[in-house]
Amino acid sequence: MCGIVGYIGNKDAYPILINGLKKLEYRGYDSSGIMLYDKKASVKKAKGKVSDLEVLYKNGKEQKGCIGIGHTRWATHGPPNKINSHPHLSNSGDLSLIHNGIIENYDALKAILSKKGYLFKSETDSEVLVNLIEEVKKTKKVKLGKAVLLALKQVVGAYAIVVFDSTNPTEIVTAKLGSPLAIGVGDSEYYIGSDPSPFLEFTKRCIYLNDHEMAIISLKKGLTLREIKKDSIIDPYIENLKHNIEEVEKGGYAHFMLKEIFEQPQSIKDTFRGRLLSQSLPIKISSIEEHFNKFKSATRIIFISCGTSWHASLLGEYFFEELLRIPVEVEYASEFRYRNPIINKGDIVIPISQSGETADTLAAVKMAKKRGAFLYGICNVVGSSIARETDTGIYTHAGSEIGVASTKAFSCQISLLLLMALDIGNRMNTIEEKRYKRVLKELSNLPETIEKVLSSAKKAESIANKFLKASNFLYLGRGYNFPIALEGALKLKEISYIHAEGYPAAEMKHGPIALIDKNMPVVVIATKKGNYQKVVSNIMEIKAREAEVIAIVSEGDKEIEVIADHFIEIPECDELIAPILANIPLQLLSYYIADKKGCDVDQPRNLAKSVTVE
Ligand code: AGP
Ligand code: GLU
Repeated sequence: MCGIVGYIGNKDAYPILINGLKKLEYRGYDSSGIMLYDKKASVKKAKGKVSDLEVLYKNGKEQKGCIGIGHTRWATHGPPNKINSHPHLSNSGDLSLIHNGIIENYDALKAILSKKGYLFKSETDSEVLVNLIEEVKKTKKVKLGKAVLLALKQVVGAYAIVVFDSTNPTEIVTAKLGSPLAIGVGDSEYYIGSDPSPFLEFTKRCIYLNDHEMAIISLKKGLTLREIKKDSIIDPYIENLKHNIEEVEKGGYAHFMLKEIFEQPQSIKDTFRGRLLSQSLPIKISSIEEHFNKFKSATRIIFISCGTSWHASLLGEYFFEELLRIPVEVEYASEFRYRNPIINKGDIVIPISQSGETADTLAAVKMAKKRGAFLYGICNVVGSSIARETDTGIYTHAGSEIGVASTKAFSCQISLLLLMALDIGNRMNTIEEKRYKRVLKELSNLPETIEKVLSSAKKAESIANKFLKASNFLYLGRGYNFPIALEGALKLKEISYIHAEGYPAAEMKHGPIALIDKNMPVVVIATKKGNYQKVVSNIMEIKAREAEVIAIVSEGDKEIEVIADHFIEIPECDELIAPILANIPLQLLSYYIADKKGCDVDQPRNLAKSVTVE
């Protein structure tokens, strides 16, 4: 995954780079490094977080240089150590490069370069690329820009790269295929980032590089954009960003994750803004109005996604099948893209992605597009690759999500899926009017209802205290609450490293029940409506085997409150709304368990926010 930053202009580059890297740490935090140019290129690298790199620069005051590049790594090739950290230097020491992505044919290229005498210090694919560029530059006697262009033609894989040549220290070259890259345009200065967060405080003018594009950024000549395959010059499109800097600060909370959990009422308001105007007015989703005929005549809807977004997709299946009566399939993007799936003309493919950059989801989108599907994207990050690659779609508008474990983005995804299903179902007449009105009313009150659920945080915290030593958890739910059981289990394992499994409650007796004893806490989502009595029976089965039960119940539930060891109430609501509410105490429970165990909640080990590698 990795985060990359760059700066070329007339200011000191170091503070821009180090602060930029901190903003991009959500993309990886195995190790980091910076190259600064001041008469000569100097590179510093550190294993661990960006703060470990910062220590090497003391207070940064002596760090001169108005050109520099920086990288925060999520290792793919070679362990996360200092040697494998970026920037990587070419054998002559002239070129330095940062890379996000994977060079798939790096082995073959490495063998060719080794025969020519090149030596490699690291195990990375990225070091191979910088030497390939050097080799092309030397043998073809071309400038850096041309060398990058020719070298990339030999490369198979994905990359966002920034390259600097200290023999011509007035320019930097960047290129993109697969991994994201944004360029901030200032006055006679340019910023580079994996996303715009490193430069938002300096400029809102941004160029998103498209696949197969490269930019040569020169202090003398400004920015030149080229198409790599055709080697032709293209006109850059400069966007005016509307992002807000405050969104990426912690705002008094101990962690971004906690802040993002508590931001959910506001995020949902933002998601509904302009779409759900009031409970008495029709829902207004322009991309659905415009493409309603596509939905009306759809023979099938296929959701593609990964991780938490896959859980949202699963709930989307329940909502869409129920309210639209159209067959729905839910696919792991990573499986779908390699499976030769059947896609017919009338199919609508809906990728769901917070980052809009997940490599598997993006590849699945491209594949579905080639096969003629209509693509409707649901993304959070505006202008992200998936948003740009789809025919149309809708943004969740959850705001920046920095915590690696997704919380508010998921809540916005599922709330939006329900709003979409209500809108399409109402237009198609597949939903009873009374039900439509009832759910719409509850949806318009959702931000306030979630506020109420959040007031159970203290209770979640005190329950968390009792389970800090647990090494396994089971999460159970039925119907609309089943995807929430999966999400609850994922959240716990991601941030607390406690093994957890989610199951449909009725599946328990087909295997997992063998695991149940007094050491296996079981979280049961047991809201009223739906299969309530059946879930009560499941709880009895668990209690008979002495496990502790933590139940998420509807307000005023007297039956389960007596049987369960711990319970958290959520307001009584329609069964379509219950999963959105029930998820929140589970987020809180995971958060408090992880925090009290001393885990790094915002940046859990081995994970990264945006998975731009396969
Ligand atoms: C969420 O908590 C996870 N970190 C992860 O499963 C994530 O949902 C997944 O990588 C998909 O990301 P996306 O929504 O940005 O595509
Ligand atoms: N492949 C490079 C490395 O291992 C970059 C990793 C990435 O972008 O995830 O260093």
